[in-house]
Amino acid sequence: MTKSALFVSQTAEKGGAELFMLDLLAHGPRDWSGCFFEDGPAAKDLVAADRQPIVLSSGTNLSAVRREASALQMLGAAGTVWSLARELARTGKDYRAICANSQKALFVSALATRMIGRPLVWVLHDIITDPAFSRNTRRAAVLFANLFATRVVANSKATAQAFADAGGRSERVRIVYCGFDPAAHPQGTSAAGQALRRRFGLGDGPVVGLFGRLTPWKGQHVLFKALATLPAVQAVIVGSAMFGQDAYEAEVRQLATSEGLDDRVRFTGFQRDIADIMAGVDIVLHTSTHAEPFGRVVVEGMLAGRPVIATKGGGVNEIITEDCDGLLVPPSDPAALAAAIARLLTDRDFAARIAGAGRVTAVERFNISKTCADMAAVLDELS
Ligand code: UDP
Ligand code: GLC
Repeated sequence: MTKSALFVSQTAEKGGAELFMLDLLAHGPRDWSGCFFEDGPAAKDLVAADRQPIVLSSGTNLSAVRREASALQMLGAAGTVWSLARELARTGKDYRAICANSQKALFVSALATRMIGRPLVWVLHDIITDPAFSRNTRRAAVLFANLFATRVVANSKATAQAFADAGGRSERVRIVYCGFDPAAHPQGTSAAGQALRRRFGLGDGPVVGLFGRLTPWKGQHVLFKALATLPAVQAVIVGSAMFGQDAYEAEVRQLATSEGLDDRVRFTGFQRDIADIMAGVDIVLHTSTHAEPFGRVVVEGMLAGRPVIATKGGGVNEIITEDCDGLLVPPSDPAALAAAIARLLTDRDFAARIAGAGRVTAVERFNISKTCADMAAVLDELS
């Protein structure tokens, strides 16, 4: 029997793009499957959810090629890409469509789908005009998408616009936002707040939470500069370095020390129970220094019924209506962030109003059932 769709990811680390794919597979039809180029936590989560993942065996040296790769490095990866494509083609022929969930997966899947005559969908999670992408990577990705992808699924209008700006064929683009299961996101309570303080050894004062990878563009350093001006405020920094980007963690820990924050900031490392931790903080923060393609943590904060302060730009502008269901601040502006935190801690009624409205927005607009339906509609267009 031919199954519906095979979602392909080069990494099995758990970044936002991979969590999007895991959510689709956990809540979508059973004939959607997940395929990884290496084993890791995301593949293991699928096993735990009784969705057997496919792990290809020829992929490991592709992880070393980063988004800022030179033409030479990309050429060096070509042999691995070819082996992976042949392996993927053998598995992929059981599916009606292949959905590549990352750029490296796009290159491999493009070749594999040519071998077996299946349509290709590229699920695009990045704003590819961002300077973090080398010109070569961006050009190669747009070229492959234009030549081989029947559809490009973008995680926000901002991501779709950047693809078009980079020369991508916009008539093929469909927007599918990340979605969540509200039942898996308890609303904050004072008991959750006390549990959080006990768990991380924090005092009775207010606690803000920053959730995400430790990497410069997620802006943990912006929060530390803001906290230096808010002596009563404590913080949990939830997340770890990922995808080989380890240098920033040492840097940002050093910054916390030099700003005198060691006794009121906790680095928790990667945590699985984000929803529970969010339910215990007073404010959920998002501090990205570049336009965020979507921003799962923003919606998760809203689902927790916590007031959210996020950086203006990118997909975040499509999630939050300013001063109604969240606050927006300019990127890389510690003074504006500190002022927004102080405002929510002073005006608790306003904070509660924002938080309540945020939960309603998140439940209504970013539900996993809608995400699965939107993805299914894209797949239906292929047949
Ligand atoms: N996350 C997690 N554990 C952590 C830190 C983050 O599970 O310790 C999750 C977080 O809940 C969110 C995702 O990682 O679902 C990050 O996605 P987002 O879109 O915010 O950013 P990305 O890292 O994909 O750019
Ligand atoms: C990427 C983006 C992030 C988005 C996630 C899921 O990792 O950086 O903004 O929320 O994908 O689409």
